[in-house]
Amino acid sequence: MPDTRPRRTFAVISHPDAGKSTLTEALALHARVITEAGAVHGKGDRRATVSDWMAMEKARGISITSAALQFVYRDHVINLVDTPGHSDFSEDTYRVLSAVDSAVMLVDAAKGLEPQTLKLFRVCALRGIPVITVINKWDRPGLSALGLMDVIHEKIKLRPTPLTWPVGEAGDFRGVLDRRTGEFVKYTRTAGGATRAPERRMGADDVDEADALVWSHAVEEHELLSLDEADHDQERFLAGETTPVMFASALQNFGVAQLLDLLLDLAPEPHATPGVDGSVRETEDDFSAFVFKVQSGMNNAHRDRLAYARIVSGSFERGMIVTHAATGRPFATKFAQAVFGRETTSVETAEPGDIIGFVNAQALRVGDTVYVGDAIEYPPVPSFAPEHFMAASAGDISRYKQFRKGIEQLDQEGVVQVLRSDLRGDQSPVLAAVGPMQFEVVEDRMTNEFNSPIRFSRLDYQVARRTDAAGASALAGVRGVEVLQRSDGTHLALFTDRWRAQYVAKENPDVMLEELPAGGSS
Ligand code: G4P
Repeated sequence: MPDTRPRRTFAVISHPDAGKSTLTEALALHARVITEAGAVHGKGDRRATVSDWMAMEKARGISITSAALQFVYRDHVINLVDTPGHSDFSEDTYRVLSAVDSAVMLVDAAKGLEPQTLKLFRVCALRGIPVITVINKWDRPGLSALGLMDVIHEKIKLRPTPLTWPVGEAGDFRGVLDRRTGEFVKYTRTAGGATRAPERRMGADDVDEADALVWSHAVEEHELLSLDEADHDQERFLAGETTPVMFASALQNFGVAQLLDLLLDLAPEPHATPGVDGSVRETEDDFSAFVFKVQSGMNNAHRDRLAYARIVSGSFERGMIVTHAATGRPFATKFAQAVFGRETTSVETAEPGDIIGFVNAQALRVGDTVYVGDAIEYPPVPSFAPEHFMAASAGDISRYKQFRKGIEQLDQEGVVQVLRSDLRGDQSPVLAAVGPMQFEVVEDRMTNEFNSPIRFSRLDYQVARRTDAAGASALAGVRGVEVLQRSDGTHLALFTDRWRAQYVAKENPDVMLEELPAGGSS
């Protein structure tokens, strides 16, 4: 029987150490995990599996298992799509955000908004994804709550609209004031956060004397916030103008159920997405999905290749024959999987908002659409402005064939962007990345998977602008710029720095030089 309960599909965006793994475990504990080799395990097992997923990612330092954790809460199916959580960025991190309907921005109360959180937030803003903010680690000393609201407003330009307000400053966490009901949600410290819901709700009149003073502070600040129009407004939230805020301690399990409730009550459900020609498929129409991530080499014994797709419309049934929009060819979905860490399980049915992995789908690339019925093609998953460039060549020239094959494969998977020019020839393409760790992934996979060691030589470029064929000819021979072509056909003009790019643009006013969506450090 297909499970057609309503969906919520979201990702957590945060800086390393803000508590994403802890929160994910806590969420899974509160809810009922349903995609774990098809079974629901006991609490102990569940924790182990979730941790394992994170541990592998940390150990390898690269995103090897990004997939979706699926669980049921209050008769809803929740898909938590993992964003790789290492200290460097890759384009994968950004692409994952094209598969979600909302994001939870996890902020460490002591650190405020950190660089990676900001970068990821910008991608959400670019894609119009509504963001819920969770201030974590309130059980430890940190910044003031009002101060944090200012930082958020200043840095991301969204108006924070707290739904809960802390009772007690950071490090003296007594609970929260639920700003919608006026209740005190009292927090009970538990050993290691083991208890499911260490919260007790009470009316303002029932607040203990011991909490009276901090409670009155919270009430006062809550009123100040209301005067400042910092109250939740669902329309403005969905329009990306405000961000609801809540305070939590993921480690102590406090606020986790509140977050799940918020996701159900406020976060958007999967909705229709227009195709490139403007046609729209409603979620209840025929099946369609787009690929947002392709991954291989997860299992060294079997050269598997998984294409992760997010279902946009219609019900999926395993075995269904779908059409691959890019080639117009039919594609059999005999092997569709839900992937959770190392665990994979056959998916029999899936619904809009769900993530499925197609096994050994050699033809599928990032951004591709698959559908049933009338043709539809979803817009490409955006690529971001690369800021790191390497000229690559085969470390062992006798293995050039393997080198070519490997580069082509990694290009298709979107591990790096591959740029070519007549000048450099096919032997030495330029690899372009958003984060330098993408090169490490390339090096590792070229050596171990394709048996072709790779030689890199760093190029002194930091800025790329989009140009066209006319621009490529006009800029040929101009000092301080090199134009190459990406495998999707886009011409990219590379510059050593922003100033050089501006200078060349000024000197060549007729040449198209467009900025690309910024992903990296700029
Ligand atoms: P990440 O996935 O975002 O990188 O963060 P992770 O969950 O691994 O958490 C980073 C550290 O912060 C961990 O401590 C974790 O226990 C702690 N932490 C997470 N949430 C909270 C919270 O709400 N309150 C407090 N006080 N700490 C929190 P660690 O010492 O690095 O690791 P561990 O030895 O505790 O596992």
